[in-house]
Amino acid sequence: MSELKGLILAGGEGTRLRPITHTSAKQLVPVANKPVLFYGIEALVAAGITQIGVIVAPQTAAEIEAAAGSGERFGAQITYIPQQAPLGLAHAVLTAEPFLGESSFVMYLGDNLLQGGIQDLVAAFRASAPDALILLTPVDDPESYGVAELASAPGGAMRVVRLIEKPKQPPSDLALVGVYMFTARIHAAARSISPSARGELEITDAIQSIIDGGGRVEPHIVEGWWKDTGRLEDMLEANRLILDAIGASLEGELVETTVEGRVQVAAGARLLRTRVRGPAIIGAGAQISDCYIGPYTAIGDGCTLERAEVEHSILLAGCSISDIDGRIESSLLGRNVRIGRDRGAPRAYRFMVGDNSEVAIP
Ligand code: TTP
Repeated sequence: MSELKGLILAGGEGTRLRPITHTSAKQLVPVANKPVLFYGIEALVAAGITQIGVIVAPQTAAEIEAAAGSGERFGAQITYIPQQAPLGLAHAVLTAEPFLGESSFVMYLGDNLLQGGIQDLVAAFRASAPDALILLTPVDDPESYGVAELASAPGGAMRVVRLIEKPKQPPSDLALVGVYMFTARIHAAARSISPSARGELEITDAIQSIIDGGGRVEPHIVEGWWKDTGRLEDMLEANRLILDAIGASLEGELVETTVEGRVQVAAGARLLRTRVRGPAIIGAGAQISDCYIGPYTAIGDGCTLERAEVEHSILLAGCSISDIDGRIESSLLGRNVRIGRDRGAPRAYRFMVGDNSEVAIP
């Protein structure tokens, strides 16, 4: 088999994570202080895939390129592929056709996180050489996902016979996870379909067209957890799942500070009269004094916190919080957000708050 390539989809609009995604790519929102996209790149490299195409939207292309670079630091070569509009996952595949050529490839949605990596998947694809291999996981609410119907083929192996988007009567509880493996046959399949009701070329329709044309599509059930980080709650949960597995490392300066459980404090961070309950991660250069940092908190580089309590939250780089009564919890703060008390005018508030934000004042 020729060399496998990787295709990471990091375009799209990210409407569900607004306002963060008004100014920043959702694939760069950090989980445990590392952009979601980097987990995907690392998973591909760990499976031996180093030729990686990354689909980018015009609005966020420069930012993503600046963050991930040539790929050298991951041990990969990254080719950036602009997609003029988010016209669907199958449209993204067609956009990448010049890069992919005749190669088989792994397609990885750039806002997805997969605990167990993709080595098993790649090994299964190499072993049985199907036309496509799709990753599935059992879910409690299959009506909210793309769902696969399986049947056993002669000889007993399982095959995918039908894919249905958000079925009212799901034929199984097996939802499509955002990682797929394809041969070059996917290009003709993607060209053969029409846009769906929401105006996108759906990858499920392209895969169905392979099945209908007599192709072999195999299922692979995910071991371990999988998260699509497209919404705030999912982002916080992904942060929790990743932080649950971190080890302790204290490189910054701790003064009159207590640290319980697994906590990472990056070099150049300084904690003063603060209590940290892990698992938690604090980025380089953060300055934190007289605070409580609770479990499942990721504080980005260069944040400044004074007299505040934060728990189960993600703070992007450069945030500053001071003098908050009560605890900030289950929150996602974008870059350079400032939250504080206006001491000069206690009854006056000044805000610049993006769409879909929530500020509750007691
Ligand atoms: P989605 O999360 O399905 O779509 P979206 O990014 O437009 O987000 P929202 O629903 O919040 O508006 O996309 C999954 C991944 O694939 C994500 O990383 C974006 C990417 N993508 C593309 O690169 N091109 C596309 O045409 C589409 C639809 C998605």
